[in-house]
Amino acid sequence: MDITVLTALILALLVSCMFIYSTWDKMYRRRNLPPGPTPLPIIGSLLHIKHGELVKSLNQLRDKYGSIYTLYFGSRPVVILAGYQMVKDALIDQGDHFSNRGQMPTVDRFFQAHGMILSNGERWKQLRRFTLITLRNFGMGKRSIEERIQEESQFLIEELKSRKQSTFNPTNIVVQAVSNVICSVVFGDRFDYNNLQFLKILNIFNEVFQIMSSTWGQLHDMIPEIMNHIPGPHQKINKLLQELLVFITERVKMNQETLNPSNPRDFIDCFLIKMNQEKQNPKSEFNTRNLLLSVLQLFFAGTETISSTIRHGLLILLRHPEIEAKLYQEINRVIGDNRSPSIEDRSKMPYTDAVIHEIQRFSDVLPMNLPHSSVKDITLHGYTIPKGTDIYPLLYCALRDPEYFKTPNKFNPGHFLDENGGFKKDEAFIPFSTGKRICAGEGLAKMELFLFFTTILQNFKLTTRMHLTDEDINPKMTGFSNVPRPYKLSFVSR
Ligand code: HEM
Repeated sequence: MDITVLTALILALLVSCMFIYSTWDKMYRRRNLPPGPTPLPIIGSLLHIKHGELVKSLNQLRDKYGSIYTLYFGSRPVVILAGYQMVKDALIDQGDHFSNRGQMPTVDRFFQAHGMILSNGERWKQLRRFTLITLRNFGMGKRSIEERIQEESQFLIEELKSRKQSTFNPTNIVVQAVSNVICSVVFGDRFDYNNLQFLKILNIFNEVFQIMSSTWGQLHDMIPEIMNHIPGPHQKINKLLQELLVFITERVKMNQETLNPSNPRDFIDCFLIKMNQEKQNPKSEFNTRNLLLSVLQLFFAGTETISSTIRHGLLILLRHPEIEAKLYQEINRVIGDNRSPSIEDRSKMPYTDAVIHEIQRFSDVLPMNLPHSSVKDITLHGYTIPKGTDIYPLLYCALRDPEYFKTPNKFNPGHFLDENGGFKKDEAFIPFSTGKRICAGEGLAKMELFLFFTTILQNFKLTTRMHLTDEDINPKMTGFSNVPRPYKLSFVSR
């Protein structure tokens, strides 16, 4: 054998041995982490995750290792918190220490820790405070968020009426209506349901979401070192996000050209005004990059989550016409048919409130939550979690925790009703997560769910030709998000 080939072979062998040694060393040097299955070099705990059954696999591991355990995504340890009490002990009782965002390799390359969902430290604090205040006060423009949702609900009703009781898959129209609310908040304007540019943008969002939730996306999040070099749909995400960014940049330019600082119309105007106010502050995080990426993230966060919940809800009501009938009775009693529902009505409608809570609990649209990361070395239940370790506080295990919900795997509005039929809160109801990183759009999302559901049911009875079983309404729990199975229905005018 040629001496150079032999030297190259020996070198390659040495490098591989060093790589394997360093991987194992990294894994096992971290003592006192919570228990978990023994990882393999390079692929970590991948063999413990069944194909297409990420959430179920995590649940099975909980049965074996308890409500806190460690998995390895490649060589990276990840701590899983499974069960409401454990999530509470971490995210509430030690909230500050668990408040960093963990890695999401599918999108991290694009966002590079900018925008409020994916940032940490001072950047996150400034952006979060600003977003919460802007969404809450909505001091911009003349109309409140409630009025914007009411207006969109009426557009939706007109569109559904125009379908003349035909049978169709509601996905597109629901996504359009919901994302029009976030458009109205962010851009100050809605898009017509047949605007082709809007449809194209929504399709791109949907494609990114689908790839993130697919096996490709999950593998990318778990073993980025390998998947970064393997061709596949996950490699498309950057390009798709770039297309969305072009659209958002255009919109920001339009706002800049017509900005009147004394009359902000939307989130972008408020951000531009803040940028201007803070231009002398070298520590300010109000810059164009954070503006563009925050808007992109708000769009993402506010569209797929709510539209999936509404689609799950309609499917559940088709399976349970008796529940739909009781909802209509309450709507008829409190609102009647002469005016649009308003948020004030909610406190007088305990049954509707309970059903919407149960739809959110049961459909569990983000079962894994978003990853967190430890701000410093933390002690939790006697284990040590080193600074910078990724943590998944699973929402699935809290929302189906048998200690808190009598029939966790059954759709049952009784979970949120007391013996007198009044609305009853449950502390384990955390579809928006909990603690310092709790969803910044919780208030907006709750308003949308109440107003869209009540306006639809006030105007239509739902029917389908499909014969639905309990299995059909059960979410698939495959991974990052729970999207309902495709179905068709018709909206019959009342
Ligand atoms: C049914 C609807 C929704 C659900 C179930 C939901 C759920 C979640 C969850 C689980 C998180 C992660 C929390 C954590 O890291 O612990 C989150 C974060 C977030 N959500 Fe929502 N969300 C919904 C709607 C919305 C809407 C409408 C908006 C837009 C205004 C929004 C904006 C955000 C933002 C900005 C964050 C990041 C918070 C941070 O990192 O500090 N969400 N959401």
